[in-house]
Amino acid sequence: MKQHSSSCVQNQAPILKIIKPLLLEKHTVLEVGSGTGQHAIYFAEKMPHLSWQASDQVQYLSSVNAWINEAKLSNTPPAINLDVTQAWPALEFDVIFSANTTHIMSWEMVVDFFQGVGKSLSENGLFILYGPFNYNAQYTSQSNANFDQWLKDRDRQSAIRDFEKLNTLAQRAGLTLMNDYAMPANNRILVWQKKSNF
Ligand SMILES: C[S@@+](CC[C@H](N)C(=O)[O-])C[C@H]1O[C@@H](n2cnc3c(N)ncnc32)[C@H](O)[C@@H]1O
Repeated sequence: MKQHSSSCVQNQAPILKIIKPLLLEKHTVLEVGSGTGQHAIYFAEKMPHLSWQASDQVQYLSSVNAWINEAKLSNTPPAINLDVTQAWPALEFDVIFSANTTHIMSWEMVVDFFQGVGKSLSENGLFILYGPFNYNAQYTSQSNANFDQWLKDRDRQSAIRDFEKLNTLAQRAGLTLMNDYAMPANNRILVWQKKSNF
């Protein structure tokens, strides 16, 4: 059944504005943690040259596929079951996109996530990660501090992640930071590229 997220509606246009120019020459996208499925449909419709492969843990797939089936786009294959701690698809993608996932995952999951990204990206592929992040172990706003407390009250394994720690994981996975974009509501878009000589 289709689930709905109002935050997706709010953030999808600002995200598109940043990622569209980055994806002009790309062909295949894997989205990790598609959630409701709204982002997949929105971005695939706005960038029809891309094949947008949505994915999530199995319990989320019915909503993602409900959005996909209703939209009937030619560039959104059925969503696949991908838990970042398990086996990843035996395919390479030009881009891996993920929104609002690293603060939900435990740190161990985040480590597996970045390892999987490093293996699943093609040469020069991009890893695009949207969400709130801390810098120098500091919150960037009081609202992010409040959000972090809310996350931890809900699940002690969840937390807003430190940019520097994510960047270390990215470097270990063969990724180089290309850009860090400020976004509305104290969010960021981090973009890494897989080094061609890794
Ligand atoms: C807050 S939701 C974000 C959903 C969507 N990307 C959005 O921006 O609305 C967090 C997502 O992370 C996914 N997630 C959490 N742990 C995961 C894991 N181990 N493997 C894959 N996805 C995971 C959840 O299933 C969920 O879809």
